[in-house]
Amino acid sequence: MELFDAIHGRMTISKVKPDSIPRETIEKLLSAAVQAPNHHKVRPWRFVVLTGNGRKKLGDVMAASFLDRNPATPPEGLDKTRALPLRAPVVIALGVDKPADSKIVEMENISAASAAGMNILLAAHALGLGAIWRTGEWARDSRVKVFLGFDPDQHILGFIYIGHPDLVPEPYVRQGFEDRTTWVD
Ligand SMILES: Cc1cc2nc3c(=O)[nH]c(=O)nc-3n(C[C@H](O)[C@H](O)[C@H](O)COP(=O)(O)O)c2cc1C
Repeated sequence: MELFDAIHGRMTISKVKPDSIPRETIEKLLSAAVQAPNHHKVRPWRFVVLTGNGRKKLGDVMAASFLDRNPATPPEGLDKTRALPLRAPVVIALGVDKPADSKIVEMENISAASAAGMNILLAAHALGLGAIWRTGEWARDSRVKVFLGFDPDQHILGFIYIGHPDLVPEPYVRQGFEDRTTWVD
């Protein structure tokens, strides 16, 4: 797929089929991710790939965290939360390193890791896959972070859900750059 077609044709696809995705395909996405630029070559991105039972384990952690905060929730009230990671066969949690020394700026690490996330979205689209970048409360949840191997003060930038498209939304025209751009010459 031509680069500009990929950039202009990509859309968030939230409804995907449960069919599994081969590991080589997931590795292609990760390999695209790490082509992103990063200052000082610190490679600040961290990926946790959740498939199969891994997604169920994440759902259990989410449900436990929800129950902690809402102790009156009946068991069946947790089912919805527990099922959240099952919305796609592959969920890639995207984390970012805290700066390891004083010359590293955290915002730059976040920018670089975000660029890696965008590469995943574009690569998924180029391979005919659907993807959605999700955050919500779970990206800020300490128990989720610890389960994924992150420190509680590390940022999770998102969970990228990926699968074969089930429902492709109608293409829509995004607003242009004009009102967001100032030219100085
Ligand atoms: C940092 C970030 C966080 C997002 N979090 C969510 C989310 O929690 N839930 C959701 O439905 N979509 C989320 N999205 C997806 C956006 O809603 C989506 O990209 C937007 O609607 C534009 O649609 P498009 O990707 O088709 O251009 C997120 C996107 C980004 C970049």
